[in-house]
Amino acid sequence: MKARIGIINVSDRASQGIYEDIPGKEVVRLLNEYLTSEWEPEYAVIPDEQGQISAKLIEMADQKGCCLIVTTGGTGPAHRDVTPEATVAVCHKMLPGFGEAMRAESLKIVPTAILSRQVAGLRNQSLIINLPGKPKAIKECLDVVFPAIPYCIDLLEGPHLETNPSVMKAFRPKAK
Ligand code: MTE
Repeated sequence: MKARIGIINVSDRASQGIYEDIPGKEVVRLLNEYLTSEWEPEYAVIPDEQGQISAKLIEMADQKGCCLIVTTGGTGPAHRDVTPEATVAVCHKMLPGFGEAMRAESLKIVPTAILSRQVAGLRNQSLIINLPGKPKAIKECLDVVFPAIPYCIDLLEGPHLETNPSVMKAFRPKAK
């Protein structure tokens, strides 16, 4: 089964064409580096509107069948930052360890990592993960949590994700 992965750049300015969509491209670049199994992107650039973000997450999870959906941006404290709220609204279960781990590791790099309210959770068979919008932060955060992602998707009975171990080691606990 070819894995379908949703990538949503949440940004008022990128969605208006004022900024180039660099965050979304960075996620594609990293996934191409990590993954050796076949995958295809389901891509969107949308404004910081809670309703639009939630609707896109539902579409990618329920209609497009994405096993993983990664959002970039809109996780900070600014008035327009609503990506975590839009994510919580559509998730059936939250996975707090993802946000905790990303913030903990990011705090070793930059004090303002504490400002990201990024969350992760499950909607049906999809794992949804928020990342900050800065390309540097995207790699810093995805590197931390990606080792656990293929096994999480196994548990959701999604496609088998294989990684290139010289770049990213996926961890799968041995059968009991
Ligand atoms: N996390 C990492 N790893 N590296 C960073 O540079 N920047 C922080 C934080 N998390 C940062 C980071 C900053 S400055 C902000 S404002 C928040 O993420 C929110 O970013 P966002 O609004 O683009 O989602």
